[in-house]
Amino acid sequence: MKTFLWLSLVVEIFQISFSEAIDRCHSVEYSVFGMFLKGHTFKTAKVGLPEECYFKCQDEFTCQSYNYFISEKVCELNNRTREARPEDFLPDRSRFYIKRLSDRVPLGSSQELPAESCSEIKASEGKDMADGDFWIYSDGTDHAIFSQKIPGNWQKMNTDPVCFGARDNQHGTFHVPKSGQIKAMKLIHRSGSIRCNRVDEPSYWGCRYSLYGNNYFMTIITNGNKKSLFPPLENLMAFKSGSNHQCGSKKHFYNPFGVGHKSKELEFSHLVDPLSVSRKEELQIWYGQDWMDCSESKNTGQTCVDVFAWYV
Ligand SMILES: *[C@@H]1O[C@H](CO)[C@@H](O)[C@H](O)[C@H]1NC(C)=O
Repeated sequence: MKTFLWLSLVVEIFQISFSEAIDRCHSVEYSVFGMFLKGHTFKTAKVGLPEECYFKCQDEFTCQSYNYFISEKVCELNNRTREARPEDFLPDRSRFYIKRLSDRVPLGSSQELPAESCSEIKASEGKDMADGDFWIYSDGTDHAIFSQKIPGNWQKMNTDPVCFGARDNQHGTFHVPKSGQIKAMKLIHRSGSIRCNRVDEPSYWGCRYSLYGNNYFMTIITNGNKKSLFPPLENLMAFKSGSNHQCGSKKHFYNPFGVGHKSKELEFSHLVDPLSVSRKEELQIWYGQDWMDCSESKNTGQTCVDVFAWYV
């Protein structure tokens, strides 16, 4: 009987605060009875009344939501919302869940509240996530974090610029900061350029020699075994059979469609099947002729870039 009275009191308190909240703003998050967010509690607190959890949450910078454990009168403060982790939002008749209403710090917007990935930020904060600086764990399994400017879903892969030359195996290398599935990559030019002979103008990405036609690039991202990833091998081209060019029928160049020799940014076509990468895996950037060891003796210069990947 006592418990029953107490429960009806809880319900009443929340009905009142809910309707008051509706008066104040149009979209409100209210308590979800019989549900809780599992596995994201960073602090618990015993209280007299469930409403005190509101203030406990309000006092914690990283508090995003809380569960109330009814029989124990315990607030479980969470550092995620159910939007960020829908898979962890589960039924439990002994609890209810409330999202923090005011002054909630957007996930990933601060070093104290890093997100696991850009996708998690999008899920948590909605589709209107602004471009800007976000804090992300370099990997789900450790606590190294890095800050970066992310337009859309792009994550930076390198710290120092990655430089690649055009002859004698001068490929650039970098290491994947975070395991996951990648659907696209892009390179942003930082400095330098390459010449593929003494006559033609330098290019950031390709070769202007007339045999390569108007606009053909040779900047290729490979795995540690020199297998072409961006573009994939099937999208690379070779000279027609019978060509007497040194590179003959070796596939090593491509048409980047809409990007020029001095374009600041080279974005590769999105893959149909995302590519799996592991943290610390080495990837390389090659200039096509150096990659295939052909027609490279007169090449000079190097290009330095930042590397970005789009994690799905
Ligand atoms: C978030 O909470 C989990 C426990 O649920 C904890 O392991 C993690 O360190 C917390 N993260 C932050 C940034 O407080």
